[in-house]
Amino acid sequence: MLYLNSILETSLDNQKIQLETYIKNRLLNNPEITAELICKDELLYKNIKKWLKIKLNSEKHYIHSKSTAKCAFRFAEIVGENPYQAKLTALLHDNAKITGDNSNHANLGAKSVQDDLGLCNRKIFNAIKKHSFHNSYNTNFEKIIFLADKTDPAKREKGLYETALILLSEGVDIHKVVKMLKLD
Ligand SMILES: [Fe+2]
Ligand SMILES: [Fe+2]
Repeated sequence: MLYLNSILETSLDNQKIQLETYIKNRLLNNPEITAELICKDELLYKNIKKWLKIKLNSEKHYIHSKSTAKCAFRFAEIVGENPYQAKLTALLHDNAKITGDNSNHANLGAKSVQDDLGLCNRKIFNAIKKHSFHNSYNTNFEKIIFLADKTDPAKREKGLYETALILLSEGVDIHKVVKMLKLD
């Protein structure tokens, strides 16, 4: 059994490396590629999700990531940020989450997106790095990722996401929404 487990782990490691090579090649060979093109490129986006799933090694974290991506997309649409950039960032925000000590997962995750996937974008890097803490000085884009993470209905209290949607649609500032929902 132990032997089988180690074979499976090795093959997953290999798959992860192969996916990183594919994604990196695609992104580094096309520095002008936008988040929208990445999200709409079926094979590329599918491989990014595959990479994330292997890396997270947790169905729970994976479901949270996909759900946070959907929330971030909607929030971004409402507040006039790039929804595809928000979706991609939110999908990847917890990529360095592991079982146990996660105090540095935001920093490690931002670095991994850049180093392992070749997704070199300051806005995405900063939003992943800052996703754990709300700060009024953060940009609207960074606040969206924080808000999506904290209201994701797959993981958080029911109704938070819908309330945040309503408040944002009514034009309430994101910082105020975070405070009203006591998320920080
Ligand atoms: Fe996180
Ligand atoms: Fe998260």
